[in-house]
Amino acid sequence: MPAKKSSGKPAQAASACASPAGCFMKWATRAVIAFVVYLTCSFLDRIKDRWYVFTPESLHELAQAAVRAHPGDINSIIPYIVSNLTTEYSPSVIALNPNSSEWVLNNAGGAMGGMYIIHASITEYLIIFGTPLGTEGHTGMHTADDYFNILVGEQWAFDPPKLEMEVYRPGEVHHLPRGHVKQYKMHEGCFALEYARGWIPLMLPFGLADVFSSTLDYWSFYHTVRITARENIRNLLIGKI
Ligand SMILES: *[C@@H]1O[C@H](CO)[C@@H](O)[C@H](O)[C@H]1NC(C)=O
Ligand SMILES: *[C@@H]1O[C@H](CO)[C@@H](O)[C@H](O)[C@H]1NC(C)=O
Repeated sequence: MPAKKSSGKPAQAASACASPAGCFMKWATRAVIAFVVYLTCSFLDRIKDRWYVFTPESLHELAQAAVRAHPGDINSIIPYIVSNLTTEYSPSVIALNPNSSEWVLNNAGGAMGGMYIIHASITEYLIIFGTPLGTEGHTGMHTADDYFNILVGEQWAFDPPKLEMEVYRPGEVHHLPRGHVKQYKMHEGCFALEYARGWIPLMLPFGLADVFSSTLDYWSFYHTVRITARENIRNLLIGKI
């Protein structure tokens, strides 16, 4: 009769829950852990606002002013935005990256473009994202609010069950509330000032997963991580979370 002393599997299952009391303790512990995680998350969610430096409204005004000053000219719009921000915000309040030559390629949600990271901290990021070629993909499901200020070109979006496309033109902002998903297209060359606020580290897997599952572009990955880490540290050093 080999049944009683067979492989470890039934024995393990038995020992994992040896008695009703043990079983209760195990599940009670799990419930307490889940509750503590839930409380921590909702606490973090409530306090995140205190670290925001930018506002969606002021960035929208800035994007509109830049578009008015240099319509259709992304090479002039970017320095306009960066010099405005470095004048408006003291380096003791927020660290900005003024090097507009620092572009990295990025693939996420099926779309591909280049990005220049102007600001990256734990609760906010501000980038220029776009491509002269046009691209199309999934917005990604995010825990942060996303504000896409169109600078040149057009962005199109599909938000079922609404079957007409949404069109966003220079000077307009496409707000994607957290948790909301759409299909989007940067139509025929579009660049945008993208501002996200929320717990940014939770967004990074979406932004970087394609490196491992698809592009294997470890060069861009390395520079993206290097610049993001450097900017996060510069901000942490002045107390900007
Ligand atoms: C930056 O842009 C905003 C919005 O257009 C404007 O109100 C502000 O005066 C500008 N600041 C500087 C220093 O140019
Ligand atoms: C700006 O970034 C480019 C590209 O990474 C780099 O070659 C250059 O040295 C940087 N300039 C400064 C002043 O850091």
